[in-house]
Amino acid sequence: MRTCGFSLLLALAFLALHHGVCHGGQLKKIFYLKSCPRAETIVRNITWSRVAANPALPAKLLRLQYHDCFVRGCDASVLLDSTNGTSAEKDAIPNRSLEGFDVIDEIKAKLEVECPLTVSCADILALAARDAVSFQFGRAMWGVLSGRRDGRVSLASEALDNLPSPASDFNTLKQQFADNGLNIPDLVALSGAHTIGVAHCVVFARRLFNFTGNNDTDPSLDPGYAATLKAQCSSPRNTIGMDPNSSSSFDSHYFVTLSQNQGLFTSDATLLTDKRAANFARFYQKFNVFLAQFGRSMRKMGAIAVLTNNEGEIRKNCRAVN
Ligand code: HEM
Ligand SMILES: *[C@@H]1O[C@H](CO)[C@@H](O)[C@H](O)[C@H]1NC(C)=O
Ligand SMILES: *[C@@H]1O[C@H](CO)[C@@H](O)[C@H](O)[C@H]1NC(C)=O
Ligand SMILES: *[C@@H]1O[C@H](CO)[C@@H](O)[C@H](O)[C@H]1NC(C)=O
Ligand SMILES: *[C@@H]1O[C@H](CO)[C@@H](O)[C@H](O)[C@H]1NC(C)=O
Ligand SMILES: *[C@@H]1O[C@H](CO)[C@@H](O)[C@H](O)[C@H]1NC(C)=O
Ligand SMILES: *[C@@H]1O[C@H](CO)[C@@H](O)[C@H](O)[C@H]1NC(C)=O
Repeated sequence: MRTCGFSLLLALAFLALHHGVCHGGQLKKIFYLKSCPRAETIVRNITWSRVAANPALPAKLLRLQYHDCFVRGCDASVLLDSTNGTSAEKDAIPNRSLEGFDVIDEIKAKLEVECPLTVSCADILALAARDAVSFQFGRAMWGVLSGRRDGRVSLASEALDNLPSPASDFNTLKQQFADNGLNIPDLVALSGAHTIGVAHCVVFARRLFNFTGNNDTDPSLDPGYAATLKAQCSSPRNTIGMDPNSSSSFDSHYFVTLSQNQGLFTSDATLLTDKRAANFARFYQKFNVFLAQFGRSMRKMGAIAVLTNNEGEIRKNCRAVN
């Protein structure tokens, strides 16, 4: 018994240490166990029923969480509406096609009835993004820690400054990810989110039609695929599946496409220009390898500059500060 208790203590101490080192901040597993025991089930229920009706939703919610976390940390600042005085993140240029706000609103409304002013919008977003992607598998594909609190500020200018441009080269991406505590495996794995969802032609039109200003095409893009894209991009407003033929399935096909020089943005293609990144991109063609790293990287991304304890607030309505 004594030995058992002792090793249990040791194990707990190790876990606590491990926990602190790996995840920074004070996020916890099942943070709402006592304060709102059904919170995670409610998030999953609503998310799954919305995804069942709209297969485009996982991409929307996943991207929403990324935009939240890269600007002022994961504090639900991306969910705030502009006010008379300030233009919010969601009204900045990189906002193209941000969607899914109504799903977060529906979950929040239900949780405000279940346990008022308890579950943060930032946690709802992190859980809903995970659950939306997980729907296709019928089980949670990565663990989400919770205990985030909501911020009170959202500035369009910060979205513009902090979200990498799709025209970024490798060193720029590496730096912008490093600024958020994310390393090269994180950058490559998280870029694999582009295995689902769509992009507007205007985002990558230069690669097709005017790469160096001479009506030319980016030579790093597979010529046959470039021809297909040119035909599909008769209007800059058209949308293209980022992982052709597989853009509604969360899989590792993005990395296969990438290896065939069919990455859609410069920011995708450029991952092959760095030796280490290219190696990771090759490893992640195996779904299980990709998934394991994606889960780790999502937990790191989900912990960027989080507000915890008494910081920030628990918003009553995700679109406005209390
Ligand atoms: C590496 C830097 C990144 C750049 C430059 C980038 C840029 C973009 C752009 C320009 C779009 C297309 C928007 C449109 O035309 O509608 C897009 C879509 C998307 N991005 Fe990224 N992104 C990056 C990283 C990420 C990360 C880290 C995630 C999530 C973990 C993510 C998830 C998505 C998803 C799911 C979509 C599809 C959205 C939809 O279907 O509406 N991206 N991204
Ligand atoms: C979740 O959905 C299931 C099936 O629709 C239902 O039985 C269950 O009560 C729901 N749970 C919550 C917490 O809403
Ligand atoms: C914003 O402006 C509108 C119309 O000018 C006004 O009705 C509203 O009260 C203002 N809202 C805030 C938060 O100041
Ligand atoms: C994006 O910003 C524009 C204005 O800059 C705004 O009209 C539009 O509603 C925004 N989109 C979203 C999804 O908030
Ligand atoms: C192509 O790019 C050049 C240089 O950036 C620009 O001056 C020109 O207007 C562009 N042409 C078209 C058709 O967009
Ligand atoms: C590029 O194409 C535009 C429109 O087709 C044409 O007006 C322009 O002269 C071309 N520029 C070059 C550098 O070929
Ligand atoms: C997508 O499917 C079409 C036909 O269904 C095929 O011609 C094309 O090669 C496929 N593209 C990729 C990238 O697999």
